Amino acid sequence: MHLKNEMFHEVPKTEEQKSHQKVTVVGIGAVGMAAAFSVLAQNVSSDIALVDVFENKLKGEMMDLQHGSRFLKNAKITADTDLSVSAGSRLIIVTAGARQKEGESRLDLVQRNVEIYKGLIPKLVEYSPETTLLIVSNPVDIMTYVAWKLSGLPKNRVIGSGTNLDSSRFSFLLAQRLNVAPTSMHGWIIGEHGDSSVPVWSGVNIAGIRLREINPHAGHEEKDAENWNDCHKEVVDAAYEIIKLKGYTSWAIGLSCADIASSIFENTNAVKAVSTFVQGIHGIDKEVFLSLPCVLNANGVVSVVKQKLSEDEMAKLHASAKLMDEVQKGLQF
Ligand code: NAD
Ligand code: LAC
Repeated sequence: MHLKNEMFHEVPKTEEQKSHQKVTVVGIGAVGMAAAFSVLAQNVSSDIALVDVFENKLKGEMMDLQHGSRFLKNAKITADTDLSVSAGSRLIIVTAGARQKEGESRLDLVQRNVEIYKGLIPKLVEYSPETTLLIVSNPVDIMTYVAWKLSGLPKNRVIGSGTNLDSSRFSFLLAQRLNVAPTSMHGWIIGEHGDSSVPVWSGVNIAGIRLREINPHAGHEEKDAENWNDCHKEVVDAAYEIIKLKGYTSWAIGLSCADIASSIFENTNAVKAVSTFVQGIHGIDKEVFLSLPCVLNANGVVSVVKQKLSEDEMAKLHASAKLMDEVQKGLQF
């Protein structure tokens, strides 16, 4: 204390400054830590709380991140098994839960993760009533619905990471074929994050030139001699393939979380494919969450872009909605 007093003249504070950009990451496995790291490294927030049930892992991850503070911007990194560490969060990224083993589908995880959410979501919202929830645990569209029901939060503040990841995978694969940057390759995947996802081939374009203006069958499952649909197949198979190779997926979803978080913190009005409440849009009559291109800002999802979908794309989107509804009917919570 003596040294500190000699070194600094303290200016009296009028009131304690509160952080308006606190992010909590719940579940600090492969995905949670990739999300936390991306948020910190990309300067989306420098105030991060980590929550998990494993005390030692929490302490280890917290220390490891803290030791990078010299390369960050005044980072505050806290961690606890007690949910009170999350209090006052502006955004809570929920990645807690079981992940797929080799051969398992995302939907196979559902009841296990619902049980975990029952213990987590109401308490998290009690500690942070102003928060927005970014749901990542799989099956993400169903878990976003469950989180919405358990949280009592308005629909605009319960967001699933959805097909922001699938759309990134899609743009990357298309861009590789055409040798352009993925950011210049405009390809959207909507619907379920997972096996029934819907590639919007009718709109895929570079600089406004739609692939279908040149090849009217681009992306068609049978008629396309160039097999563009392989890019969508690869997106659907991506997680299965990566899980077979390394056991889990992490980096791309971590970056996707930071990308969504930055739209919220920086109030950008950027359009991203995230999972949102879709009843009443595109004629969907089910109470389900699915990904559509959404305008995101400080209020969460503020509007949904009404894409001009082909008949086939519309039918596939409705099939995703039906599937979500059927799974939801079987849930106990
Ligand atoms: P993981 O096993 O590495 O980590 C999960 C963590 O959750 C563990 O550390 C575990 O202790 C913690 N956890 C479990 N119950 C908890 C509770 N009640 N409170 C706090 N923490 C708890 O798994 P992972 O690879 O990080 O995947 C996490 C989830 O994210 C899985 O459901 C996975 O399928 C999903 N995922 C989603 C996407 C997506 O695009 N939406 C992408 C990748 C993974
Ligand atoms: C993904 C996870 C497993 O990487 O949903 O797509």
